[in-house]
Amino acid sequence: MKTTCSSIVVFGATGDLMRRKLAPALFRLFQKGRLPPCAGIVGFAQTELDDDGFRRFVREALDEFVTEIPEADWATFAPLLRYVQGDLTAPESYLTLRKRLEELEGESFPRLYYLAIAPRFFPSVVDQLDKADLSSETDASRRLVIEKPFGRDGLSAGELNRAAHSVFKETQLYRIDHYLGKETAQNLIYLRFANTIFEPLWNRLYIDNVQISVSESVDVGHRADYYDGAGVLRDMFQNHLFQLFTLVAMEPPSPFNATTLRDEKVKVLAATRPLLTVDTVCGQYEGYRATEGVEPSSRTPTYAAMKLLVDSWRWQGVPFYLRSGKALGSKSSTITIEFKRPPHQMFGSFQSPTPNVLSICIQPDEGVHLQFDAKVPDQSAKTQPVDLEFHYQSAFERAELPEAYERLLLDALQGDASLFARSDEIEHAWKLLDPIIEAWDHPETGSLAHYAQGSDGPVDADELLAADGRAWHAGCVDH
Ligand code: BG6
Repeated sequence: MKTTCSSIVVFGATGDLMRRKLAPALFRLFQKGRLPPCAGIVGFAQTELDDDGFRRFVREALDEFVTEIPEADWATFAPLLRYVQGDLTAPESYLTLRKRLEELEGESFPRLYYLAIAPRFFPSVVDQLDKADLSSETDASRRLVIEKPFGRDGLSAGELNRAAHSVFKETQLYRIDHYLGKETAQNLIYLRFANTIFEPLWNRLYIDNVQISVSESVDVGHRADYYDGAGVLRDMFQNHLFQLFTLVAMEPPSPFNATTLRDEKVKVLAATRPLLTVDTVCGQYEGYRATEGVEPSSRTPTYAAMKLLVDSWRWQGVPFYLRSGKALGSKSSTITIEFKRPPHQMFGSFQSPTPNVLSICIQPDEGVHLQFDAKVPDQSAKTQPVDLEFHYQSAFERAELPEAYERLLLDALQGDASLFARSDEIEHAWKLLDPIIEAWDHPETGSLAHYAQGSDGPVDADELLAADGRAWHAGCVDH
C-alpha cells in the first residue's frame, strides 16, 4: 500500500473521541506501516499542553484502549505527535498552527484536518482555516473530516453544507459515519455484487421484507447533555441506519467508485416514500427522565421503529423495517432479508411455515447466516429450518477486524470518499426524518411508548409489524 507523508491535524485533540477512537486508530495504522514515519499528527486544543504533555495524553489513551503496545512501536510513533495549544475561534491560533505545520513539513504535505469538536464550531473553524490560508490546495491536498451529528435537521445541515462549501469543495469533505467503516457493513456491497447467487433474488419477486435492527444494551450514560437534545432518530437513524438501508437497497454502482456508489445511495433516499407517522413508533426507556442532565419532562425518544417503502421497480411493495434503541436486552446490529415462501406447498400439512432468511450480522459475531428448510431425517416429509453460517472469526486467519476509524482515516488520507456521506445524501436523509421528528416532538401527534430497560423495546414496535402479518427476527448473537 502506498504511504505518503501527510499531516493530520486533530481539532479537539484532548477530547473523548481522540482518546477512544482516533489515537488507537492512528497507532494501529502506524503499526501496520500505513502511516509513514514522516507523517505528523498535530493535536490542536485549548488544554495547556506541550508536545510531551500531548504524548503522555495519547499514551494514556493507548494504554486504556489498545491491548498491546510494543515499546519499540511506541518509541517510533511518539515523535510523530505534536501539539498546538489554541482557541478554535481565535485567528492567531490558526497562524500559530500554520507556522508549526510549515516548520514540520518543510515542503507542503497533504493535510487532513479532523474536526473532533462540537458541531457549533464547524463554521468558524472552516472560516478560520480559510483566513489563515490553510484550506487551498495549491501545493498539496487539504481534506476536512467532519464528525456527526451533521446538523439537527435539514435546515441546519443545509447551512453547514453551505458554510463548508464556501471554503472547501465537496471533494475535500469527508463526513464520517463510522458504520460505513465497519467491515461487515462494507461486506454488504461484496456480498451483493461479488457473488452471483444473491443479486438475482434481491428484489420484490423474491424478498418479502427487509429488517434492519440496531439494538444497544447501553443506556444514555454520561451523554445526556448531547443525547437529550438529539434522540435516537437524529443519533442513529439519520446516519447509521439509513446508511445500512441504502447499501441494501441501492442498484449496483457502475463503474464502481465514490461518485457512483454515493449516487446510487442518494437515488434510494430520493425514491423512499415520505414517512407517515402511523408507520413509526417512538419510545423511551423507563427511568430515562431520572438521568442526570435529562429534562424531567423530556420527550426525547431512546427507541424508534419505522416502516420504509421504496417506490422503485426493484422494491415496489417490499417494506423495510428499521428499529434501534438504547437500554435494550442485548447489543447487536443485524440486517435480515426475509424471502417469500415457495409458490407451491408440495409437502401438505408438513409444510414448514419458516421462510428462507438471510441474516447479515454487523456485530457481534460478525458474519452471514442463511436459513433454509431441510428434511428432518427419518420423518416423512417433515422439514426444519437449518443454518448455513459464515463467521469472520473462523473463516479468516487474521480474525481481528480493524476498527471502523482505522479504515476511515486511511481512506480519507488516501482520498477515497466512498465510505463517507455526501452533502446531498445528508440532506435527503433529513428530508425524510424531519416531519417524523417534528411529529414525535408533540404529545398531540406522537404518543411516546415506554419500555423496560433490558427488554426488547416497546410492544408498539411489534404491533407495527403484526399489522402487516409479520414479526421481527431476532438479531445475531455471540456464538
Ligand atoms: C454513535 C451514537 O454514533 O453510535 C451512539 O452517537 C451509539 O449513541 C453508537 O451508541 C453506536 O455505535 P456502535 O458501533 O457501538 O454500534
